[in-house]
Amino acid sequence: MPATTSLNDFLAALDGLAERGAAAFAEVRDAETLEAARVEFLGAKSGALRDVQKHLGGIDKADKPAAGKRLNEVKQLLQAGFDAAAAALKSGEAVATGPVPDPTLPGTPLELGHIHPITQTIEHLKEIMGRMGFEAAEGPEVEDPWHNFVALNIPEDHPARDPLDNFYLATAAAQSAGEEGGLLLRSQTSTVQIRVMEARQPPVRVISLGRVYRPDAPDATHYPMFHQMEGLLVDRGITMANLKTVLRVFANNYLGEDVRIRFRPSFFPFTEPSVEVDFWWNDAWIEFGGAGMVDPAVLESVGYDPEQVTGFAFGLGVERLCMRRHGITDIRDLYSGDMRFLAQF
Ligand code: PHE
Repeated sequence: MPATTSLNDFLAALDGLAERGAAAFAEVRDAETLEAARVEFLGAKSGALRDVQKHLGGIDKADKPAAGKRLNEVKQLLQAGFDAAAAALKSGEAVATGPVPDPTLPGTPLELGHIHPITQTIEHLKEIMGRMGFEAAEGPEVEDPWHNFVALNIPEDHPARDPLDNFYLATAAAQSAGEEGGLLLRSQTSTVQIRVMEARQPPVRVISLGRVYRPDAPDATHYPMFHQMEGLLVDRGITMANLKTVLRVFANNYLGEDVRIRFRPSFFPFTEPSVEVDFWWNDAWIEFGGAGMVDPAVLESVGYDPEQVTGFAFGLGVERLCMRRHGITDIRDLYSGDMRFLAQF
């Protein structure tokens, strides 16, 4: 504008300013744009309003009241625009007034969970064994020494009962009496053999799948909690041949038709004779657990007559079976909770 300014030019400049300012404040979505708009329109040194105001002096004396009045109005208008934008920003409203959502677009798909590989394995093993007439039985994970040791022919001084090899629980009563609690997290599912035989008369044909606990430092093949599949068959005339057949049929179903089975002599207090069970798979003998004929002392401890019935029992590592079948090389992956690993199964 020239040094002398007509009222019309002055009012037109104010109108344009009011319009641009209102639009700028309406578009504010964050603190930076708010501040930029404030400086641009209301800035004390070089703001747009200030620029127009400088020309007030060049206006005819007679027109000055009208010019001043309009100047004040526009100033208030811009200030109101700023205040509204600042308030909206504070209440979060400005953020919510983004682009209008299109309700016809497909939504974000829900992420479906799925069953943990070990639980899948357990279901699979139950299904295979179920076809051979084995019924699934369960027992508690917190056990007493009778079921974890004594009834399984494991005497008081046996190294398997060492506190360093078991998770004993210090019960309040035992603690105040200054003794060991006695209860422990079961170290094997063989406990369920006892519980089933205590509750039923022969013949029994059960499996039990569940967690067991041992204080092992975790590495690729050890974890302080893992799962076992226990099997127990007690009836008249049961022999080692029945045991070998059941385990071979199981291995062929779970790992493949070409899998072979091998027994190596071993020792468990609750079986006699006892064996380690190996499966020949992918060109190697791999140990999957222990087995044997139920020791007559165990049959007696549950009130069975060892002259009338015999039986076999086995305990296989569930993680080991699952890992071999799926090519998993580190047991810790199963329990890391890392979805990138778990989502593959
Ligand atoms: N309970 C034994 C273990 O945990 C395995 C086993 C089960 C051995 C049944 C013989 C019979 O090592």
